[in-house]
Amino acid sequence: MSDKLQRTLIILKPDAIHRGIVGEIIDRFEQKGIKIVGMKMAKLSDLLLDKHYAQHKGKHFFEPTKKYMQMLPVVLVVLEGLEVVRVVRTMCGPTDGRNAPPGTIRGDYSGAISRNIIHASEDEKAAYREIKLYFKTTEIFGYDKPDAHFYYDVERGE
Ligand code: PPS
Repeated sequence: MSDKLQRTLIILKPDAIHRGIVGEIIDRFEQKGIKIVGMKMAKLSDLLLDKHYAQHKGKHFFEPTKKYMQMLPVVLVVLEGLEVVRVVRTMCGPTDGRNAPPGTIRGDYSGAISRNIIHASEDEKAAYREIKLYFKTTEIFGYDKPDAHFYYDVERGE
């Protein structure tokens, strides 16, 4: 297995659900050849959000962000692919949708930092912590795709 193979967590936030763009966003990752290995819908509790955003506790946006994340359920997805943590962050674009370039998810769909459509793990350490926070091991599914050779060099992991 390539040492570049990683997993990351994305959360399609309540505005993505409300605006009916969940499918469009997930499609971008599938088109890129990134594999879905876990997916579910959930209403995030105060406790989970306190843990998730622990490093931001006390910041001015902490409570409003929690409120926003509880407006509707969210869709949680575990993605797998080569260097997928960095690739997915790049596809999402900068945190503030107004500064995000066109072609990125936030650049195309978000006009405000407080309504920025998607969360993606910041780095490998955060990805490990966040996947563990939201998913049991039995909710994640490793599998092979027969057409993987057409997305990357499977033997060389390149
Ligand atoms: S920072 O500035 O480095 O602390 O921001 P960052 O780590 O990128 O993300 C902080 C999360 O809080 C959400 N949020 C905001 N961040 C900064 N400023 C404002 N005003 C703000 N409002 C909300 C932001 O979307 C990040 O959440 P996630 O879920 O990671 O996108």
